[in-house]
Amino acid sequence: MDLRRDVRLGTRLAVVRAGGLAMALAGDPVLRLLYRPWIDDPTAIQRQLREAAQPYASRAGVLVVATHAMCRDLVRDRRFMVRTRSGGSLGGAVEGERDPLLEPVDLSFLGMDPPEHTRLRRLVGTFFTPARVNGYEPLVVALSERLADEAAKQGRFDLVADVATPLPVAVIAEILGVPDADAGAFAQWGRAVAAGLGGVRSLRALHRLEIAIGELRALLGDLLEKRRHDPADDLISHLAAQDADAQETVSLAALLLLAGFETTSTLLSNAVAAMTEAREPWAQLSASPGRAADAVEESLRFDAPIQFTARTPHETLRLGDRDVAPDTVVMAMLGAAGRDPAVHADPDVFDLDRPTRGEHLAFSGGIHYCLGAPLARLEGRVALAALAARMPALHREDGAVRRRSLLLRSYQRLPVST
Ligand code: HEM
Repeated sequence: MDLRRDVRLGTRLAVVRAGGLAMALAGDPVLRLLYRPWIDDPTAIQRQLREAAQPYASRAGVLVVATHAMCRDLVRDRRFMVRTRSGGSLGGAVEGERDPLLEPVDLSFLGMDPPEHTRLRRLVGTFFTPARVNGYEPLVVALSERLADEAAKQGRFDLVADVATPLPVAVIAEILGVPDADAGAFAQWGRAVAAGLGGVRSLRALHRLEIAIGELRALLGDLLEKRRHDPADDLISHLAAQDADAQETVSLAALLLLAGFETTSTLLSNAVAAMTEAREPWAQLSASPGRAADAVEESLRFDAPIQFTARTPHETLRLGDRDVAPDTVVMAMLGAAGRDPAVHADPDVFDLDRPTRGEHLAFSGGIHYCLGAPLARLEGRVALAALAARMPALHREDGAVRRRSLLLRSYQRLPVST
């Protein structure tokens, strides 16, 4: 442990936390999203951000776009990057490298600009094409049906812990080729690391996270080494055969776990929460489980698991009615875009029959468009159909807890009864 680094990071954390709360109380809408009551229902803030002149300048020192059109154009604009000119984190205090507070985990190509981004994305792209992903359907069906049967038997259960989390972990473990014996530990590390993805709140959390990342990387590194000599038909073997840099390959494998697990889990719990609260959509889905693909799209629009992404220009660029200086952080509020009345009539209503449900930015766009979108859609469709078919009277119980995160709009706990 490096004490000087800890003191430096601890001081920055305290300043950022105190400053953030003060600005939230003073009315900064972006920071308010981190605190109650806004964290439970961000609808009003999303509207405020969409109705402001775009881009909106937050007192947190970032620019924000929140309409569908502005968010879509920003993520597709290849002049806006995911690294600063010196290669640092967006908004970070560390020049030229990852900022451990804002970006505690190496997110491989998600955090890279071309040409590195292009090279690494190509290495795994073939594993996530719709055709290849369809091959995983029997596995996803078997896992979803088993989890839904077990949950139905319990009668009362936590949707997050009992269904929404184990499904995507088991699927990605299978795709990567993590043996059953390691799958439990794999899930725990995944959970610990995913919890810190949006930045950490304390030094203790940072240390916990660093230990979890170290263990996860060790597991993936060992597996990679094993598969070099003894290949199987899985993604780790495919990567082992590429003769790529070992550190880089481990980061890539970790990205696939981290990007795909908490997000898909969040999609499932947000979808069940929204549909059982509105009742009508859940009744519709139970009557016709074949409509689960529509439920997935409407849920991604209604409650995007990843609420924002960010970009920065490397030269002064015009955006809306502003000149944006190099290295300025521009946040694209993907969740707010899903509720834009310019695209969706009555946007705050969950409507399974909505014709525009597919017009959301929950998977972002441009060169960083979610690589796992076909897999997430498959898991969402199969799991929601399995639940709705077995549990037509599913309803929420008291005790639901939202996670306190600006990035991930998700539940920590979602108690339900059949
Ligand atoms: C509902 C579930 C999911 C949601 C909402 C989601 C959302 C996103 C978003 C918003 C981005 C782009 C971020 C940006 O533009 O900066 C992204 C990128 C990515 N996602 Fe997903 N994701 C989901 C599931 C998955 C799954 C299942 C996997 C893989 C197993 C996955 C792998 C990735 C990867 C590798 C990237 C980086 C793409 C790049 O930088 O080129 N995601 N995801």
